[in-house]
Amino acid sequence: MTEGQKEMQRPFLVGQKLLLRPLEESDVSEEYVGWLNDQEVTRYLETGKFPATLETVRKYLERFQGSATDVILAIVDRGTGQHVGNVTLNHINWVHRTADTGLMIGRKDFWGKGYAFEAWSLIIEYALQRLGLRKIVAGVVDGNAASLATLQKLGFQIEGRLRAEHWVDGEFRDALRLGLLRDEFYKSRGGKAARQ
Ligand SMILES: CC(C)(COP(=O)(O)OP(=O)(O)OC[C@H]1O[C@@H](n2cnc3c(N)ncnc32)[C@H](O)[C@@H]1OP(=O)(O)O)[C@@H](O)C(=O)NCCC(=O)NCCS
Repeated sequence: MTEGQKEMQRPFLVGQKLLLRPLEESDVSEEYVGWLNDQEVTRYLETGKFPATLETVRKYLERFQGSATDVILAIVDRGTGQHVGNVTLNHINWVHRTADTGLMIGRKDFWGKGYAFEAWSLIIEYALQRLGLRKIVAGVVDGNAASLATLQKLGFQIEGRLRAEHWVDGEFRDALRLGLLRDEFYKSRGGKAARQ
């Protein structure tokens, strides 16, 4: 099946330039594994410290299958049908109605084009509207300026600084904890929906 055909088949959330669809076993390609072994991509992530293989990635994806607390979606460029990255909602807490989110644009030629902003917008809108969550949190390593700028544009507020949490480029960096309440998200969007 080509990527274009996959797009036709199972979009879960549809935006302007990308769509989010369930990540499938057939997405676990050498290219995807390559993203996780690329230090530029994983510089500020937990992943990438140990080598990734097709097997480790398949194992990682198992925990999302049928889960009611963790969601992973493939980010697909609508123009080309290419799988360019993934976005997650993790640790959904149905009592507090919170979750944390993570995102990776693995294809570096898609960096700086607003893909993170749109993918995060879509999954956050899904979390708030369809799942009824009330707060989304994210962690950003100090120095990940693109990620911080994107999350702040979505309305996230810095709630705390965890000192010397991450070993990056030969030094310990602080981690910023960010949080987003429903109103902050809708205010950042000026009332506009992320979906088409
Ligand atoms: C970090 C990452 C998510 C950004 O994705 P992206 O699609 O390139 O981001 P976008 O194009 O949506 O937006 C980037 C924003 O950051 C800004 N930005 C980029 N580099 C910046 C820098 N060095 N300083 C300040 N702002 C910067 C851009 O100007 C843009 O803001 P704008 O739209 O207001 O101009 C992506 O590069 C990535 O996946 N990296 C690897 C994994 C990762 O770090 N994930 C995040 C974990 S929290």
